[in-house]
Amino acid sequence: MDERKELESSGSLGADEACEYRSAYQECQDLCDRLENPGAPLDSDRFIDSSRKPTTIDQSRIEEVMEGLPCDGLRILHVGVGNSSLARRFASRADGIMGLTLSPNEKSLSDTLGLPGYTVLLLNKYGRELLSLAKTGYDLIVDNNLASFACCKFHFYRMLDSYVARLVTGGMILTDQRGMDWTAGDTRWRLTYRDLESLGSKFHLQAHRLTESVYGLNKLAEPR
Ligand SMILES: C[S@@+](CC[C@H](N)C(=O)[O-])C[C@H]1O[C@@H](n2cnc3c(N)ncnc32)[C@H](O)[C@@H]1O
Repeated sequence: MDERKELESSGSLGADEACEYRSAYQECQDLCDRLENPGAPLDSDRFIDSSRKPTTIDQSRIEEVMEGLPCDGLRILHVGVGNSSLARRFASRADGIMGLTLSPNEKSLSDTLGLPGYTVLLLNKYGRELLSLAKTGYDLIVDNNLASFACCKFHFYRMLDSYVARLVTGGMILTDQRGMDWTAGDTRWRLTYRDLESLGSKFHLQAHRLTESVYGLNKLAEPR
Protein backbone atom coordinates (compact mmCIF):
# COMPACT_ATOMS: atom_id res chain seq x y z
CA MET A 1 0.00 0.00 0.00
CA ASP A 2 1.47 3.41 -0.84
CA GLU A 3 1.96 6.19 1.70
CA ARG A 4 -1.17 8.09 0.69
CA LYS A 5 -3.46 5.06 0.92
CA GLU A 6 -1.95 4.13 4.28
CA LEU A 7 -2.69 7.57 5.70
CA GLU A 8 -6.24 7.51 4.35
CA SER A 9 -6.87 4.02 5.65
CA SER A 10 -5.71 5.05 9.16
CA GLY A 11 -9.16 6.61 9.31
CA SER A 12 -8.01 9.82 10.91
CA LEU A 13 -7.06 11.69 7.76
CA GLY A 14 -9.25 12.74 4.90
CA ALA A 15 -8.10 11.97 1.38
CA ASP A 16 -7.28 15.64 0.73
CA GLU A 17 -5.14 15.93 3.85
CA ALA A 18 -3.43 12.64 3.13
CA CYS A 19 -2.41 13.92 -0.30
CA GLU A 20 -0.57 16.85 1.29
CA TYR A 21 0.92 15.23 4.39
CA ARG A 22 4.37 13.69 4.38
CA SER A 23 6.32 13.12 7.59
CA ALA A 24 9.63 15.01 7.71
CA TYR A 25 11.50 11.80 8.60
CA GLN A 26 10.38 10.25 5.31
CA GLU A 27 13.12 12.34 3.70
CA CYS A 28 15.80 10.66 5.84
CA GLN A 29 17.90 7.89 4.37
CA ASP A 30 16.43 4.39 4.15
CA LEU A 31 19.53 2.65 5.50
CA CYS A 32 22.61 4.04 7.24
CA ASP A 33 26.09 2.54 7.37
CA ARG A 34 25.91 1.97 11.16
CA LEU A 35 24.81 -1.66 10.98
CA GLU A 36 26.84 -2.74 14.04
CA ASN A 37 26.15 0.36 16.08
CA PRO A 38 22.89 1.95 14.92
CA GLY A 39 21.60 5.27 16.16
CA ALA A 40 22.74 8.86 15.70
CA PRO A 41 26.55 9.09 16.01
CA LEU A 42 27.23 10.72 19.37
CA ASP A 43 30.60 12.24 20.17
CA SER A 44 30.05 12.57 23.90
CA ASP A 45 28.20 11.10 26.86
CA ARG A 46 26.17 14.29 27.09
CA PHE A 47 23.13 12.76 25.41
CA ILE A 48 23.28 9.21 26.64
CA ASP A 49 24.24 9.56 30.30
CA SER A 50 21.41 11.02 32.37
CA SER A 51 22.34 9.16 35.54
CA ARG A 52 23.05 12.44 37.36
CA LYS A 53 20.45 14.59 35.66
CA PRO A 54 16.92 15.26 36.83
CA THR A 55 14.14 13.35 35.11
CA THR A 56 13.03 15.19 31.97
CA ILE A 57 9.69 16.98 31.90
CA ASP A 58 8.48 14.59 29.24
CA GLN A 59 9.26 11.46 31.23
CA SER A 60 7.78 13.04 34.37
CA ARG A 61 4.54 13.63 32.49
CA ILE A 62 4.48 10.00 31.38
CA GLU A 63 5.06 8.88 34.98
CA GLU A 64 2.10 11.03 36.06
CA VAL A 65 -0.09 9.33 33.45
CA MET A 66 1.13 5.95 34.70
CA GLU A 67 -0.05 6.85 38.21
CA GLY A 68 -3.57 6.85 36.79
CA LEU A 69 -3.16 3.43 35.14
CA PRO A 70 -3.62 0.13 36.95
CA CYS A 71 0.15 -0.51 37.09
CA ASP A 72 -0.13 -3.32 39.64
CA GLY A 73 1.19 -6.52 38.12
CA LEU A 74 2.19 -4.95 34.81
CA ARG A 75 5.36 -5.89 32.97
CA ILE A 76 7.14 -2.72 31.92
CA LEU A 77 9.96 -2.08 29.46
CA HIS A 78 11.58 1.32 30.02
CA VAL A 79 13.79 2.42 27.15
CA GLY A 80 16.33 5.07 28.20
CA VAL A 81 16.25 4.68 31.99
CA GLY A 82 18.08 7.92 32.85
CA ASN A 83 18.27 8.26 36.63
CA SER A 84 15.87 5.30 37.17
CA SER A 85 13.13 7.52 38.61
CA LEU A 86 10.45 5.51 36.83
CA ALA A 87 11.64 2.27 38.41
CA ARG A 88 11.93 3.88 41.85
CA ARG A 89 8.32 4.91 41.54
CA PHE A 90 6.77 1.78 40.02
CA ALA A 91 9.01 -1.23 40.80
CA SER A 92 7.07 -2.20 43.92
CA ARG A 93 3.78 -2.22 42.01
CA ALA A 94 4.85 -3.68 38.67
CA ASP A 95 5.50 -7.32 37.92
CA GLY A 96 9.02 -6.46 36.79
CA ILE A 97 10.65 -3.57 34.99
CA MET A 98 13.27 -4.16 32.33
CA GLY A 99 15.30 -1.08 31.46
CA LEU A 100 17.51 -0.34 28.46
CA THR A 101 20.30 2.18 28.18
CA LEU A 102 23.53 2.89 26.32
CA SER A 103 25.09 4.43 29.41
CA PRO A 104 27.25 2.29 31.76
CA ASN A 105 26.72 4.95 34.46
CA GLU A 106 22.93 4.65 34.20
CA LYS A 107 23.23 0.88 34.46
CA SER A 108 25.57 1.07 37.50
CA LEU A 109 23.16 3.41 39.25
CA SER A 110 20.25 1.06 38.58
CA ASP A 111 22.23 -1.87 39.97
CA THR A 112 22.94 -0.04 43.24
CA LEU A 113 19.24 0.61 43.85
CA GLY A 114 18.36 -3.06 44.45
CA LEU A 115 14.76 -2.51 43.40
CA PRO A 116 12.61 -5.67 43.23
CA GLY A 117 12.26 -7.02 39.70
CA TYR A 118 14.26 -4.17 38.16
CA THR A 119 16.97 -5.12 35.65
CA VAL A 120 18.78 -2.77 33.29
CA LEU A 121 20.60 -3.95 30.19
CA LEU A 122 23.19 -2.11 28.14
CA LEU A 123 21.42 -2.68 24.86
CA ASN A 124 20.84 -0.65 21.71
CA LYS A 125 17.14 -0.21 20.99
CA TYR A 126 17.79 0.09 17.25
CA GLY A 127 19.86 -3.10 17.17
CA ARG A 128 18.94 -6.73 16.48
CA GLU A 129 19.37 -7.83 20.09
CA LEU A 130 16.12 -6.23 21.17
CA LEU A 131 14.14 -8.75 19.12
CA SER A 132 15.46 -11.60 21.27
CA LEU A 133 15.26 -9.73 24.56
CA ALA A 134 12.55 -11.61 26.42
CA LYS A 135 10.10 -14.34 25.70
CA THR A 136 7.09 -12.97 27.50
CA GLY A 137 5.27 -9.81 26.52
CA TYR A 138 5.28 -6.38 28.07
CA ASP A 139 2.13 -4.50 28.96
CA LEU A 140 3.82 -1.11 28.75
CA ILE A 141 6.82 0.17 26.85
CA VAL A 142 7.92 3.66 27.88
CA ASP A 143 10.12 5.59 25.46
CA ASN A 144 9.98 9.38 25.54
CA ASN A 145 12.65 9.65 22.81
CA LEU A 146 11.26 7.29 20.17
CA ALA A 147 13.11 8.83 17.19
CA SER A 148 15.42 11.29 18.96
CA PHE A 149 18.49 9.12 18.36
CA ALA A 150 17.45 7.61 15.03
CA CYS A 151 19.96 7.16 12.21
CA CYS A 152 17.80 5.89 9.34
CA LYS A 153 14.35 4.57 8.56
CA PHE A 154 15.44 0.93 8.62
CA HIS A 155 16.70 1.08 12.20
CA PHE A 156 13.79 3.19 13.40
CA TYR A 157 11.31 0.75 11.89
CA ARG A 158 13.23 -2.20 13.31
CA MET A 159 12.95 -0.65 16.77
CA LEU A 160 9.18 -0.31 16.32
CA ASP A 161 8.96 -3.89 15.03
CA SER A 162 10.80 -5.01 18.16
CA TYR A 163 8.47 -3.01 20.40
CA VAL A 164 5.37 -4.48 18.75
CA ALA A 165 6.83 -7.99 19.01
CA ARG A 166 7.54 -7.50 22.73
CA LEU A 167 4.09 -6.06 23.56
CA VAL A 168 1.05 -8.12 24.54
CA THR A 169 -2.06 -7.47 22.47
CA GLY A 170 -3.69 -4.38 23.94
CA GLY A 171 -0.35 -3.37 25.46
CA MET A 172 0.79 0.20 25.01
CA ILE A 173 3.81 2.28 24.04
CA LEU A 174 3.88 5.54 26.03
CA THR A 175 5.60 8.64 24.73
CA ASP A 176 5.42 12.43 24.98
CA GLN A 177 5.43 15.32 22.50
CA ARG A 178 8.33 17.11 24.21
CA GLY A 179 10.62 14.12 23.73
CA MET A 180 9.31 13.72 20.18
CA ASP A 181 10.28 17.34 19.51
CA TRP A 182 13.88 16.78 20.61
CA THR A 183 16.55 15.16 18.44
CA ALA A 184 20.20 14.45 19.16
CA GLY A 185 21.07 14.94 15.49
CA ASP A 186 18.96 15.29 12.36
CA THR A 187 15.92 17.45 13.16
CA ARG A 188 13.85 15.66 10.51
CA TRP A 189 13.39 13.02 13.20
CA ARG A 190 11.09 15.33 15.12
CA LEU A 191 7.75 13.53 15.27
CA THR A 192 4.22 14.90 15.35
CA TYR A 193 1.07 13.24 16.63
CA ARG A 194 0.07 12.78 13.02
CA ASP A 195 3.31 10.86 12.44
CA LEU A 196 2.30 8.52 15.27
CA GLU A 197 -1.08 7.97 13.64
CA SER A 198 0.62 7.21 10.35
CA LEU A 199 3.15 4.88 12.02
CA GLY A 200 0.25 3.21 13.80
CA SER A 201 -1.25 2.19 10.49
CA LYS A 202 2.10 0.71 9.42
CA PHE A 203 2.74 -1.20 12.65
CA HIS A 204 -0.73 -2.33 13.68
CA LEU A 205 -0.88 0.19 16.52
CA GLN A 206 -3.63 2.63 17.47
CA ALA A 207 -2.49 6.11 18.49
CA HIS A 208 -4.43 8.02 21.10
CA ARG A 209 -3.97 11.07 23.27
CA LEU A 210 -3.80 10.41 27.01
CA THR A 211 -3.19 14.09 27.86
CA GLU A 212 -2.34 17.13 25.75
CA SER A 213 1.23 15.87 25.37
CA VAL A 214 1.34 12.22 26.46
CA TYR A 215 0.39 9.72 23.78
CA GLY A 216 -0.28 6.00 23.75
CA LEU A 217 0.15 3.54 20.91
CA ASN A 218 -1.88 0.40 21.59
CA LYS A 219 -1.09 -2.90 19.96
CA LEU A 220 -4.14 -4.04 18.03
CA ALA A 221 -5.32 -7.64 17.94
CA GLU A 222 -4.23 -9.60 14.87
CA PRO A 223 -7.00 -9.77 12.30
CA ARG A 224 -8.54 -13.31 12.22
C1 LIG B 1 17.95 12.20 27.07
S1 LIG B 1 18.19 10.72 28.03
C2 LIG B 1 16.56 10.58 28.76
C3 LIG B 1 16.56 9.78 30.04
C4 LIG B 1 15.16 9.58 30.66
N1 LIG B 1 14.30 8.82 29.80
C5 LIG B 1 14.50 10.92 30.95
O1 LIG B 1 13.73 11.37 30.13
O2 LIG B 1 14.80 11.51 32.00
C6 LIG B 1 18.16 9.49 26.73
C7 LIG B 1 18.19 8.07 27.21
O3 LIG B 1 18.07 7.17 26.09
C8 LIG B 1 19.14 6.25 26.10
N2 LIG B 1 19.45 5.92 24.70
C9 LIG B 1 19.84 6.74 23.70
N3 LIG B 1 20.00 6.04 22.56
C10 LIG B 1 19.69 4.75 22.85
C11 LIG B 1 19.69 3.55 22.09
N4 LIG B 1 20.02 3.55 20.80
N5 LIG B 1 19.33 2.42 22.70
C12 LIG B 1 19.00 2.40 24.03
N6 LIG B 1 18.97 3.51 24.79
C13 LIG B 1 19.33 4.67 24.21
C14 LIG B 1 20.27 6.97 26.81
O4 LIG B 1 21.26 6.09 27.29
C15 LIG B 1 19.46 7.67 27.91
O5 LIG B 1 19.15 6.73 28.93
